[in-house]
Amino acid sequence: MTRKLFVTTALPYANAAFHIGHMMEYIQADIWVRFQRMQAQREVHFVCADDTHGTPIMIAAEKEGITPQEFVAKIAAGRQQYLDGFHIAFDNWYSTDSPENVELSQDIYRKLRDAGLIVTKTVDRFFDPVKGMFLADRNIKGECPKCGAKDQYGDNCEVCGAAYQPTELVNPFSVFTGSTPIMKPSEQYFFALSDPRCYGFLKEWLNTPGRLQSEMVNKVSEWLGDAGEKLADWDISRDAPYFGIPIPDAPGKFFYVWLDAPVGYLASLKNYCSKNGMDFEALLNDPATEQVHFIGKDIVSFHLLFWPAMLNFAQHPIIDKLKVNVHGHLTVNNEKMSKSRGTGISPLRYLDLKMNPEWLRYYIAFKLNSKVEDLDFNGDDFVARVNSDLIGKYVNIASRCAGFIAKKFDGKLASALSPEARQWISRALTNDGAERQASIANHFENREFGKALREIMEIADITNQYVDENKPWILAKDEGKSAELHDVCTAALILFRQLTILLSPVLPQVAARVSEFLNDDKISWLDTTGDAVYRTMLGRTIGAYSHLMTRVDAKMVEDLFDKPAAPASAAPPAAAAAPALEAVRNPGVEAPAPEIKIDDFTKVDLRIAKIVNCEHVEGSDKLLRLTLDVGEGRLRNVFSGIKGAYKPEELVGKLTVMVANLAPRKMKFGVSEGMVLCASSEDEKTNPGLYLLEPWPGAQPGMRIS
Ligand code: MSP
Ligand code: ZN
Repeated sequence: MTRKLFVTTALPYANAAFHIGHMMEYIQADIWVRFQRMQAQREVHFVCADDTHGTPIMIAAEKEGITPQEFVAKIAAGRQQYLDGFHIAFDNWYSTDSPENVELSQDIYRKLRDAGLIVTKTVDRFFDPVKGMFLADRNIKGECPKCGAKDQYGDNCEVCGAAYQPTELVNPFSVFTGSTPIMKPSEQYFFALSDPRCYGFLKEWLNTPGRLQSEMVNKVSEWLGDAGEKLADWDISRDAPYFGIPIPDAPGKFFYVWLDAPVGYLASLKNYCSKNGMDFEALLNDPATEQVHFIGKDIVSFHLLFWPAMLNFAQHPIIDKLKVNVHGHLTVNNEKMSKSRGTGISPLRYLDLKMNPEWLRYYIAFKLNSKVEDLDFNGDDFVARVNSDLIGKYVNIASRCAGFIAKKFDGKLASALSPEARQWISRALTNDGAERQASIANHFENREFGKALREIMEIADITNQYVDENKPWILAKDEGKSAELHDVCTAALILFRQLTILLSPVLPQVAARVSEFLNDDKISWLDTTGDAVYRTMLGRTIGAYSHLMTRVDAKMVEDLFDKPAAPASAAPPAAAAAPALEAVRNPGVEAPAPEIKIDDFTKVDLRIAKIVNCEHVEGSDKLLRLTLDVGEGRLRNVFSGIKGAYKPEELVGKLTVMVANLAPRKMKFGVSEGMVLCASSEDEKTNPGLYLLEPWPGAQPGMRIS
């Protein structure tokens, strides 16, 4: 039976351009989709849309003096360059502000109402007495109840990150008129999640094998409580004016954006079906259809409580066939992304710098697994991984062998292989390839992309070992060894083609270029086993090899990061050496190191660092993890072996000295981005202590030490 896959990702808010976290989600889903498309008996539909409704978008549009519709159209127009740029091949990009979404959302609502799951309650809401309207959370500002920051929205504080109710704001005011809002009763519509039917359904749905990752089953089970006692009704209505979908038979009321947003998956599919002459209803009702959905860990409650319950009690056919895959977040150098702290990477800047999008696809895929774990983008690690695997291992095979085929054999591969060459191929592919292929396919299917790529790189390692042992560049010098040269280069290119096929979900563009160079009509997953590994290659004339991919230049990666803020103040003048009046020779003092020039010293960039956080490192009896502020607009993570000498709480808030230009070092517990300086005695017996350096008062984080 053909599996019909309806694949979706979260719908991005249409209030801003994409950031690198979005790209990570789409790359993950796109790799999975491309893998599926290569398998026999698959029909894949991959769709997305902009999430357009809600107050933040209304406010953003109002600021620009345009309608919300104009605002989201502008955002939508900017999407394609990112998708094309990173080879993300959605079949359809649509909008939740669409006739399909209105119809589908209202239909689901009516069915829920018929099922007795919509209730109304009168609740007190903020009201602007001057403008005569109810105020959404983001229409109210005031002082943060937690930290006192002024001018904060009614739902959360941008300074301290606290989340709260608008009623908790101190000195609240309406963003429209500045007047003090009053409380006014308002009738609101709720989805009755507390109804025991919802608990009964969710409990069973959640525990269906293969539906969710085990971490998610546990998390949502906690939310459900023992008998659903923790489930509260969900407020699904907002008062006009609201950019959203009207609630049927409820004048002046709109669906809260999170009700219609997930319906947007279906709206996009419906729109896609009608554009392509497909029957939407038939596709949804087909038992062979599955929806496979990718989201980040921050939006789980919407997708694993409200949405499935809504679909189920609206008797939607997709509910039994829905699988949700949750991923962790992308961090940059172990920090949560934030523009203001300067650690964001702009996807457009990446493309502007002419960085290869497939480097990022490979790097992300290499670090992905099927768990809900955060994934760190680390510049040095990125350079090392891409250069070592893609250039050093993969592309290298073709660049070392293809030239000889062109030069010496008129571009024609050997028409038969020696038993040795066949043995090496069997070794690389483990026998006839079937086992390898099945194992790699299994990893792709299960979103264990890192495991898939590690296994593919094993094939590359064996291939390189084969080339290294047979040295085609030496064989080429000896006319008598021409047959051997032909044999080795043909076998290596056969394996190179295998690697290309297996890597093609991750590297679609390189795969297309290789396919052209090898005169392969179509990259096919079926060619990775048995006779197909050889058949189509032996005796084939291939095209000229042109360089497939360049190395990553570390400088590019430097340029990729948001520029750090300049240090707060200039370096102080060097202090004059104090005259020594009387010198004492202490036991355990090392002799001075060999003399250096001032240039040698200035290579070491020493800075004042503030220890903003310090904690124990689980599993290590030596290390403390320091979070250092060196005034560069981002924080650094540094491990230091001073656990025996200091308690974390003694260090927080102190200033110290660090080596700021030491190459980051990957350790078992994470990457260390520098080193703090400590004094210690040469002879640990005379003085076992370690003494962290502390500057005199007045020094500021980021000052250079010279
Ligand atoms: N509009 C909602 C989703 C509605 S779905 C019906 C939303 N939008 S979002 O733009 O904030 O996020 C879209 C997706 O990007 C979410 O799955 C979110 O988890 C994901 N990511 C946001 N930041 C991310 C990272 N730093 N890393 C990886 N994914 C990230 O939520
Ligand atoms: Zn605050």
